[in-house]
Amino acid sequence: MKDTENRPILSLIYAASENDVIGKDNDIPWRLSADLKRFKQLTTGHPIIMGRKTFESLGRPLPKRRNIVISRNAAFHAEGIELYGSLEAALAACKGEAQAFIIGGAGLFAESIDKDLIDTIYFTRVHAEIDGDVSFPLPESDAWQITDVASNQADEKNEFAYTYVTLKKG
Ligand SMILES: NC(=O)c1ccc[n+]([C@@H]2O[C@H](COP(=O)([O-])OP(=O)(O)OC[C@H]3O[C@@H](n4cnc5c(N)ncnc54)[C@H](OP(=O)(O)O)[C@@H]3O)[C@@H](O)[C@H]2O)c1
Repeated sequence: MKDTENRPILSLIYAASENDVIGKDNDIPWRLSADLKRFKQLTTGHPIIMGRKTFESLGRPLPKRRNIVISRNAAFHAEGIELYGSLEAALAACKGEAQAFIIGGAGLFAESIDKDLIDTIYFTRVHAEIDGDVSFPLPESDAWQITDVASNQADEKNEFAYTYVTLKKG
């Protein structure tokens, strides 16, 4: 159902540990200040699309971006968000935007990849084995080409070493 008319370039952006964990107890189980800054730099000015739990883990809408939340509960309400009942409805609301980002969680990552909606994945590999309750592996298909890799060391603001990996649909 790839409707490319007026469709934004759609990217995933997420971080995962060596064992593919992305979350624990509805939070992110590491502290990487540089990764948060990169997230802000890439997504500011563009819609961010997220599941209801990811929104609740953020606790507030992120500034200078449309915060689009997906839930099956039409009564869900929070200041500063747009609520939609499906990924399709959220994407329809982004028509005319140049770029949009799916920022989590695991179900929306899987759904958007399976439906062939994603152009780019901005991935951060956190070099640690982390205990968690939500995980999402990178797609293994040859359809994805690594276009950029940048390795970084741990320091006082970044708990673990981490590598930025950009993947594009070939
Ligand atoms: N490491 C990272 O980069 C990263 C990024 C994002 C999130 N996280 C972590 O991941 C965890 C949250 O992710 P999660 O996968 O558990 O939950 P999530 O995807 O954020 O939220 C799941 C909820 O979103 C709604 N939803 C999802 N897909 C839907 C669809 N197709 N149609 C309608 N509603 C839909 C449903 O809400 P209702 O139940 O209200 O119907 C569902 O229960 C947290 O620990 C968070 O910190 C990590």
